[in-house]
Amino acid sequence: MPLGILVSAIFYVLTVQAQGSADAFCLAQATKSLRMPRRNFRLPSALLCPSCARIFVASGYSGVLFVKLKSMIFRFLTAGESHGPSLCAIVEGMPANVPLVAEQIDTHLARRQAGYGRGGRMKIETDRVTFSAGVRHGLTIGSPITLNVENRDYASWGDVMNPAPVEEYAHDSVKTRPIQIPRPGHVDWAGGLKYRSVADMRNILERASARETTMRVAAGSVARALLEACGIFLGSHVVEIGGVNAGEVVRPSAREINSIADKSEVRCLDSSVEEKFKSRIDAARESGDTVGGVFEVVADGIPVGLGSHVHWDRKLDGRLAGALMSIHAMKGVEIGLGFEAARRSGSQVHDPFVSGEPLARPSNNAGGLEGGVTNGEPLVCRVAMKPISTLMNALPSVNVTTGQATAAHVERSDYCAVPAAGVVGEAMVAIVLANALLEKFGGDSLEEIVERMEVHRAFTLSQIKKWEETGE
Ligand SMILES: Cc1cc2nc3c(=O)[nH]c(=O)nc-3n(C[C@H](O)[C@H](O)[C@H](O)COP(=O)(O)O)c2cc1C
Repeated sequence: MPLGILVSAIFYVLTVQAQGSADAFCLAQATKSLRMPRRNFRLPSALLCPSCARIFVASGYSGVLFVKLKSMIFRFLTAGESHGPSLCAIVEGMPANVPLVAEQIDTHLARRQAGYGRGGRMKIETDRVTFSAGVRHGLTIGSPITLNVENRDYASWGDVMNPAPVEEYAHDSVKTRPIQIPRPGHVDWAGGLKYRSVADMRNILERASARETTMRVAAGSVARALLEACGIFLGSHVVEIGGVNAGEVVRPSAREINSIADKSEVRCLDSSVEEKFKSRIDAARESGDTVGGVFEVVADGIPVGLGSHVHWDRKLDGRLAGALMSIHAMKGVEIGLGFEAARRSGSQVHDPFVSGEPLARPSNNAGGLEGGVTNGEPLVCRVAMKPISTLMNALPSVNVTTGQATAAHVERSDYCAVPAAGVVGEAMVAIVLANALLEKFGGDSLEEIVERMEVHRAFTLSQIKKWEETGE
């Protein structure tokens, strides 16, 4: 193999490492499969990956420039501390020509800030997003999108969170004192050790805070704009708080769920449950305690065939569970019947196909996924949130500098954030679905994606027609 291609390949493999191993694997396969006809071969040259049939194109004899032809993948990064100057996110992989204005995102940011059981912080912040890249005249342009949200509370934190070096300041309040008493249930202690920040665990606490979920909701709203333009809608609602269950509810379409749930302070669908949820939260607050709960995210309009059964890391159920579990304080994810499926026999779990009506399956116990692939039914994920870890009636802890037993550090905090967590759950599901959509139909513009979806839909319908015509 000529040196140019070899250098290109090594350079490319290094650059894709941050994106995960899949592309590097493909490139390695492609490079391995390449049989060079002549030693003086000149670039550009194409490398075909035998595993996924994607083509990689190398150009330039020096091997410095390497261009990849593949579908765009939606991904995002966030930055920002809870009480720092601001939060930001960069979203990459969003196709061009998707309608997107700040108000679309602000609506979901406001939904994340609401909910019965929140602490004082949410009254201070009124989150508003500004774009500094990637959007022009209300449309995405295909380049990375930069989103910013100001932390209003920063103004009242003096020098504590100042990015610039500061003179010594008085350690005379909860805000200004170094945090040396870890809170059970938080990452304060483990993170303090890991990052050598035990002398002041604020360095850990600030980034570990669920304030970060603001930017997940912002990035998720961008993903959602793409999904909605493709006819896919999401909603969420709360099904359990502190052990009080909402019971059986008739679930409306994903599109309608939020218009009902958002009218309730606890984001439940059944108004008769609202007071029970609120009383449970009140009881926790009065005793200086906190509660968790369970929320459900539903998405519909999803085409058949997102995700894949072929590798562990392409299965959509695994990707959804990982994304949902990555939200602060989430401790379990169920898809469809979830844990209940383990208690039933197969005949009571698997959703039959009905002759003549292959898309109208009589049940959706699978929650829209079979073998890690969407099957055209609504996607249903339920997520369990542990109780908030900061208790006003603080749990026993130790001052790590003096070794003395004492009550854990207490800072302004929520008592219950399950209603807000549902909104974050929607965002993470939107991000995973947008990514899967781009894998299947990816293109550089919304128009291309819609065209490809239509071809796929026509194929699916032709198969259904065949089934109907030949069925009994
Ligand atoms: C929307 C939302 C709001 C939260 N608000 C608080 C809070 O005010 N105080 C707190 O101690 N934890 C809060 N949490 C939970 C903590 O962030 C979480 O318990 C902590 O990160 C440790 O959880 P982990 O072990 O799952 O990472 C909140 C979580 C979410 C999703």
